Amino acid sequence: MASVSFRNIQKSFGKVQIIKGLGFDITDGEFVVLVGPSGCGKSTLLRMLAGLEDISGGEIVIDGRVVNDLESKDRDIAMVFQSYALYPHMTVGENMGFSLRLRNAEKSVTDERVSRAAKILNLDPLLGRYPRELSGGQRQRVAMGRAIVRDPKVFLFDEPLSNLDAKLRVAMRAEIKALHQRLKTTTVYVTHDQIEAMTMADRIVVMHDGIVEQIGTPLDLYDRPDNLFVAQFIGSPSMNVIEGTVRRAGGECWVESQGARWPVPVATSAPDGQPVHYGIRPGDMTLGGGSNGVDAKVIVVEPTGAETELLVQVGEAKLVLAVHGRVDARPDETVRLAIEAESVHLFDRQTGKRMGR
Ligand SMILES: Nc1ncnc2c1ncn2[C@@H]1O[C@H](COP(=O)(O)OP(=O)(O)OP(=O)(O)O)[C@@H](O)[C@H]1O
Ligand SMILES: [Mg+2]
Repeated sequence: MASVSFRNIQKSFGKVQIIKGLGFDITDGEFVVLVGPSGCGKSTLLRMLAGLEDISGGEIVIDGRVVNDLESKDRDIAMVFQSYALYPHMTVGENMGFSLRLRNAEKSVTDERVSRAAKILNLDPLLGRYPRELSGGQRQRVAMGRAIVRDPKVFLFDEPLSNLDAKLRVAMRAEIKALHQRLKTTTVYVTHDQIEAMTMADRIVVMHDGIVEQIGTPLDLYDRPDNLFVAQFIGSPSMNVIEGTVRRAGGECWVESQGARWPVPVATSAPDGQPVHYGIRPGDMTLGGGSNGVDAKVIVVEPTGAETELLVQVGEAKLVLAVHGRVDARPDETVRLAIEAESVHLFDRQTGKRMGR
């Protein structure tokens, strides 16, 4: 187990700077999930932590020790990739024990660790099989088994579940989480999957263009995104955002946009005339608003079973609603949106920063 710190990390490939002075701390035993758009530097950061990639500037600290010049094999880190890269000519057991054999560990030690990891991952019955005789999920478990056998200080996962089908992903997600609860090994996990990020993370790190936009617990980021980027990146379907202007008159406050009056939280202190991005999550609107609602035209209705997703239009703006249960609405029909004012997010249109509260 170990703490990890990134201090002012920079990374360039040739003249192109990919990581631009990034720093954060991971506490011992924490499960941190890295998210961000494709190409923002997530894998590069993991590879630098694992010692597979040089650092152009800054320091990486593991357990209080600067590891910049420490070779990968001496960092005591195990990484699980998207492509599990098992050795095809080795059995499951041999695959799992390989890293220990490379280090000339005693056979009894290797066998004991492999057998313990196999028990944790329910791989005992498969130890004698070859990778080609396994399902995708089983291969993924072997790849994790290989990492566990090393008993590392830190686990790194780079989109480990993205090759699996939806059902298996859910099952493996639960397994990785259970594994973490059991071993409590510090973990850094990269994913594009919103649900994985929200459900697995102690804290989520949102990266963008080589910097950190925000770090926090999943619900922190969901409820109080610091800026427009995080607001639109966290949550699925994404937050609706429309441009508008704050209006104050007769003791009331609202946002004017697309010819409609949009409710805002009571405590909003933004001055009259302030240009804003008005943000509202799909689940924070329902149908059937009263005098405080907004009229919208239905474009698409998508029942998913437990929920119904609607695409609606107000003026030029299109918004997505996720409504509980079934909805009796048809395309082209006009509906009235009820918006929960207290769940509205306002962002300064110039800086993109969260306003108030
Ligand atoms: N060896 C390399 N040489 C040159 N450029 C590289 C190299 N490795 C990565 N890059 C570039 O660095 C940037 C970050 O890549 P990285 O793989 O870290 O992104 P990522 O956040 O993991 O993206 P994804 O979500 O698509 O996996 C990309 O623009 C990529 O093209
Ligand atoms: Mg990547």
